[in-house]
Amino acid sequence: MSQEHIVESLTGKTMQKRKSRIPARLDFLQSATGLFLAIFMIFHMLFVSTILISKDFMYSVTKAFELSFIFEGGSSVPVFISIAIVALVFVFHAFLAMRKFPISYREALRLKTHSDLMNHGDTKLWIVQVVTGFALFFLGSVHLYIMLTNSGNIGPFASADRVYSDMMWTLYILLLVAVEFHGAIGLYRLSVKWGWFENGNAKESRAKLKKAKWILSGVMLTLGVATLIAYMKIGAEHQANYGEKYTPQVEVKNEN
Ligand code: HEM
Repeated sequence: MSQEHIVESLTGKTMQKRKSRIPARLDFLQSATGLFLAIFMIFHMLFVSTILISKDFMYSVTKAFELSFIFEGGSSVPVFISIAIVALVFVFHAFLAMRKFPISYREALRLKTHSDLMNHGDTKLWIVQVVTGFALFFLGSVHLYIMLTNSGNIGPFASADRVYSDMMWTLYILLLVAVEFHGAIGLYRLSVKWGWFENGNAKESRAKLKKAKWILSGVMLTLGVATLIAYMKIGAEHQANYGEKYTPQVEVKNEN
């Protein structure tokens, strides 16, 4: 008689093998870090696109992040700390996501055949998320590294010079497309997974969520492209004075 059977006959209870809680915890952490990054990206776009309103407005936003109301003229330290926190969450999220990647070419091929055969929309979305996620490993890391090493060099002219004269627009176009699809699909999948906005009718809510996902991607892409064009225009006009900091029109006090 095995040890399990002896315990069973003595206690009358069936021994259940303990299932590890680690995969569920990692899944939760992946969802939580993904949600944090998706919300961050919405605010990031709002801040970056202030350039569409005016140079002065974008300048005042950067100065607020530099806590210029505490430190005279602003400091790059709080900006550096914020970027470092986002970068850590970004790396942790990518690390957790690696568990879900197909681990061999054969596995990826089987997944594609399965998706084609089933013609299952959500499986296709998952594949788009894996591909854009893979691209973000590289594109996102480059951007975050450049921001970390330039945390005191963000502003209407500094950013426009980087986008135009330093040719960062090429990276930003790819990053924009990858992040907006990845983020919107991620939010859709999170809502389906955790049953948010379900209201008792899963099928109907899924259709609505899919629509919301397209709208979110569309709005963010449009705003992102318009913002990039604005930085390009300013960067082209400012090319002869590359490196010169912006001086606000309203209040000539701080420079960046
Ligand atoms: C705290 C961290 C971050 C800061 C401070 C930051 C800051 C900025 C700034 C100032 C710009 C304007 C261009 C420039 O100055 O070079 C920009 C553009 C951009 N950033 Fe970030 N960024 C951060 C994190 C991220 C992350 C994690 C992503 C995505 C993975 C991202 C995606 C983009 C994209 C796509 C653009 C181009 C926006 C457009 O199309 O107009 N950023 N970022």
